[in-house]
This record gives sequence, structure tokens and C-alpha cells, in this order.
Amino acid sequence: MRAVDIIAKKRDGRELTRDEIGFIIRGYTEGNVANYQMAALLMAIYLRGMTDDETLALTEAMLHSGEVLDFSDLGRPRVDKHSTGGVGDKTSLVIAPVVAAGGVLVPMISGHALAHSGGTLDKLESIRGFRTDLSLAEFQPTLKRVGAALIGQTAEIAPADKKLYALRDVTATVACRPLMAASIMSKKMAEGASGLVLDVKVGSGAFLKTEEEARELAKVMISIAQGMNKDCVVFITDMNQPLGRAVGNSLELIEAFETLKGRGADDFNTLCRELSARMFVLGNAASDADRGRRFYDELIESGAALAKMSDIIRAQQGDANVVDNYDLLPGTSHQQQLLSPATGYVQAIDTEAIGHASMLLGAGRVWLDSAIDRGVGLTVHAKIGDRVALDSLLVTIHFNDAARAEEAVGEIRAAYKIGDEPVEPPRLIKAVLPS
Ligand code: URA
Repeated sequence: MRAVDIIAKKRDGRELTRDEIGFIIRGYTEGNVANYQMAALLMAIYLRGMTDDETLALTEAMLHSGEVLDFSDLGRPRVDKHSTGGVGDKTSLVIAPVVAAGGVLVPMISGHALAHSGGTLDKLESIRGFRTDLSLAEFQPTLKRVGAALIGQTAEIAPADKKLYALRDVTATVACRPLMAASIMSKKMAEGASGLVLDVKVGSGAFLKTEEEARELAKVMISIAQGMNKDCVVFITDMNQPLGRAVGNSLELIEAFETLKGRGADDFNTLCRELSARMFVLGNAASDADRGRRFYDELIESGAALAKMSDIIRAQQGDANVVDNYDLLPGTSHQQQLLSPATGYVQAIDTEAIGHASMLLGAGRVWLDSAIDRGVGLTVHAKIGDRVALDSLLVTIHFNDAARAEEAVGEIRAAYKIGDEPVEPPRLIKAVLPS
């Protein structure tokens, strides 16, 4: 078998066999298929798509590129959450400590920033010393002792996704349903969770722009989870505006800490609460979603969730003082305030452009080896439906490089649509499946 023939077959729109998919994923993981060949195949898949059988074969090949963990001997339910990616989506940073504080184990394998969307790992790596690269030998005892562990794909766990994820990020091949399904489900099936809550984002800041596409992806992921005997609930949620107020690594971490202290933005806190409530149900810590919501409130109000966040940071060798001292996080030397050009209502926000602007400032990658600036980002003051006056504050831009900031300002200005007609804010939770 040769990689070039497999690329040509997909380029011509033909279905790949399970053996061909296994061959190319193994070859790429082991370094026998070059980045340029895989980039060509990814683009062919992006343009030609994959059948459900191909998607399943890809997921399985990626899953078995590394070890598949089995934590059943821990004797407790293990539940994780994963989002398809959005702007300002820092829910994992709240959910992991809350759910672990509630007694459910949370083994979480996350990703770095992807295209215009942020990544949990980059946010956590803003904390001095925090290790997202725990080995397998470290992951399991940490999970057992602390109740949650948040790591990235490693040489041992989902290594194929580690390489493919980084390559997709810089080859414009992220927004592709089969690639997303295989990326997410290979990580999630490898991490030894017994239940899974998935958050499929839809809207201008998501990789999927229509609810129909989101439902299609949800269906594929539910069927993969069921095929592997995992309980799975999928939320379809709005991404037509940034979630919460902060976009950018350190800024999002601060917003997550504030939420754990009971001072979170309403939309962000509501989503964390809903996702956590379902995780409590899957983890047998609540008999229904309503009790799960109340449990979430209790764990925030008592400070137990915040204390658990400190435990997680310490266990992964980070400086836990950061929870109370935000000066320990990377910051920026400059801020600029972007003001409203008119009086009226915020009618729409091109959220992909907002995420792209943050990436331009340095929060994301343009090359495989781009360095990230973890201090930069945006504070979003005006959201859809808000009434704004001429010269009132829309967005604060936190930056270190003036040339990059200038480009970002242009994108953000163009992203806001302000008009005379009042509009309703978009509905945050559009569906929970299976219903
Ligand atoms: N999150 C992932 O882990 N993979 C994707 O492809 C998109 C979001």
C-alpha cells in the first residue's frame, strides 16, 4: 500500500477501506507518512467527506494509535465533557473541578487552540509550572487521588490525534464533520471514561454553522459512543457570540476562576451548570438534571469547587496561588478600548472574526511551531440584544504587539452589527440529545 494512492483515491471521491485508513494513520503516527502527504489527504477528506463507515474506521484507527485506558477498577463512574470548539468557551475549566468536587471522576483529555477557537490546554498552560503532559503512569494516580486530571494527547494516549490536530490547525481542515468526530471520539474513548457529555457548538463562531450540521455530527458521535458502550449526552449550544466575556488564554482562566467563586457571567455559568448537571446524572451523583443543577450551586457556594481547582493545579505541578492572585498570570503591556460607532442594539456578532482577531493578537497558532502569547485577548462588553450608545464600550483589546492589534481592531469593528431594531439574544441551549 502507498500513501499517495490513498490520497488519490480520496481526491477522486472514492470510499477508503478500513485497511487503507488503518495503514495511513499508523504510518503517520510512526513517522512513515510525511506531513505534506497527510495535509493533502486531510484536504481531500475535507472536500470529499467520509461515509459513516469510514468515520468509524478513522476513529478506531486513531483510538488504537495509542493506549486505551481502562479505569473500571477504580470502582467509580468516570465522566468527561468535550466541546467541538468555540470562542470564549472555557467550560472545561469550571466543569472539571465542580464535577470532581461532587465525587465523580473526571479523566479529561483536551486539545490546544484550534483555528479561531481556544484550547483548554493553552489556557491551563498559562499557569506557571502547570503540566498538561502527564505520562500515563502519572495520569491514573492523579485522577484517583484528586478526582480530576486534565492532560493533552500524548505519545501514549491518542498520539494520532495529537499530530493530526496540530496539522489541521494550520491547513484549514478543522471544520470537517468526520475529522471532528474522529478527533473528539478517539480522545474520549481512549481516556477511560464511562460516560460522556458532548457540547456541539453551532453558529458564527463555531466550526458548524447550521443546526442541521450540528445534529448530523451529534448523531455520528452518539452512534460511536453507543458502539463502544459509553453513556453519551449531546448538547447543541449557541456560538453566535462569545461565551461569557473573556476571549484569550489568561483572560479565560480568570473568568473561570471568577465563575468558581460565584461571580460568572450568566450565559457562561448557565452552560457550565447545565453540562455539569448532566455529568452528575451520568456519574450517579444526582438522580435527575434538576438535582444536578442544585448540586452545582451548592459546590460553587460552599467553595468546594474552587478548592478542587486549587488541588488540580497543585497536583499537576502548577502554582495554585494563581487562583487568588491573577497577577501571576501572563498579561499584556497595552489595552485599547473599542467604542460603538453608533447608538442602537447589537444585532449580530461575527464570532469567528472575534476568535480570529484574538488569534491574530497571538492567542492561537499560524504555524505548527508558532509560539502563543498567553496574555493577549479580548474582553467583550456588548453582546447580542444589548443596547449601546454612541462611544460606549464594545470590546477591550489586550495586546503586546501594536501592528497585530491594528489588524485585530479592524476585524472586531467589522464583526459588530449595530442597528436600530431591538433583537432577542440567541437561545443558549438549542437541544439535548437523545431527547
Ligand atoms: N475538538 C477536538 O478535539 N477536535 C476537533 O476536531 C474539534 C474540536
